[in-house]
Amino acid sequence: MSTKAKVLKALEENKGKTISGEELANSLNISRAAVWKAIQELRKEGYRIDAVTRKGYCLTQNSDILSAEGILPYVKRSNMSDRIHVFKTIPSTNLTAKKMALDGAPFGTVVIAEEQTKGRGRFGRSFHSPPLSGIYISFILEPRFDMTKSVLITTAASVAVCKAIEKVTGIYCQIKWVNDIFMGEKKICGILTEAVSNFENGQIEHIVIGIGINYSTNTSDFPEELQKTAGSLFGDMHTPYNDNQLKDLVSNPSISRNRLIAEVINQILDINENLESRDFIPEYKKRSFVLGKEILIIPAGGAQGERNLSEGTTALALDIDQDGGLVVQYRDGSIDTLNSGEISIRTTSY
Ligand code: BTN
Repeated sequence: MSTKAKVLKALEENKGKTISGEELANSLNISRAAVWKAIQELRKEGYRIDAVTRKGYCLTQNSDILSAEGILPYVKRSNMSDRIHVFKTIPSTNLTAKKMALDGAPFGTVVIAEEQTKGRGRFGRSFHSPPLSGIYISFILEPRFDMTKSVLITTAASVAVCKAIEKVTGIYCQIKWVNDIFMGEKKICGILTEAVSNFENGQIEHIVIGIGINYSTNTSDFPEELQKTAGSLFGDMHTPYNDNQLKDLVSNPSISRNRLIAEVINQILDINENLESRDFIPEYKKRSFVLGKEILIIPAGGAQGERNLSEGTTALALDIDQDGGLVVQYRDGSIDTLNSGEISIRTTSY
């Protein structure tokens, strides 16, 4: 680990507290001059580090530059220090994760970016990924099921993200099947699950789960076509908080992007480990706001459930099955289970 990374780690672990240059130098086994040089470098990168006369250095509580050092103090597992990779700007964390998987990165590797220039969404769409106001994170995971059950890992990831958001911010989010996460009426997070196959034998060797959370993006910063539907956790006026509560929240050291990323890591790795138990399905159903509603089915590439549906088929959303599929009833009374595609909610009653 570089001297700068060591100093940052110590400052992040003591965020909001003042540590003397001497204490830093002794605990890291480096000279005070080296500490000073590292502090200058970190300041150049944008870290707000106050120097308190005769007391030492303090990383300010509202500092929230993404870094492995800022995330690791909140990650439960001890084997993650080499597995968290943070980039400033890359085209897409899913693409980087897929490349890293092919190059032999271990399962549990996490790729994070401050900004994505070609963020990818489902069905070939793009995902708006501006710097500083979002969380873009991809996981390399071991495939535990054949891909016909891929919807299960996706539903599990939605629950993991909702739990992480609630634990860190107190905000209760809901899920629109299959994996769009909503705060009130606005989508604040999307998830893209992709498989990495072995070219020779066609076997799926890795699953990459990419999660994009709009953290503090203001409505006016979204492209115009998204402004009605996209929201963010702490963006303007779409939070459940008033202005004063919001100020408190933003200056609350336990709420930061680094902290939320760490909790997403904790929850995703936990839920993935226990995927077979399907313990998360009741929580998924509880947070689903489509059950009992009339939906419009938007097929993915034609095939849907057991039928071949044309665009615009409506149905009543009845249940989520044990594999995360959406059980629906068509107008003729027949029942089907959807395992892919997309739905939208109709406002008229069934
Ligand atoms: C969707 O809502 O259509 C899914 C959006 C998924 C976006 C995330 S951001 C991190 C990861 N990298 C990407 O390029 N996409 C996913």
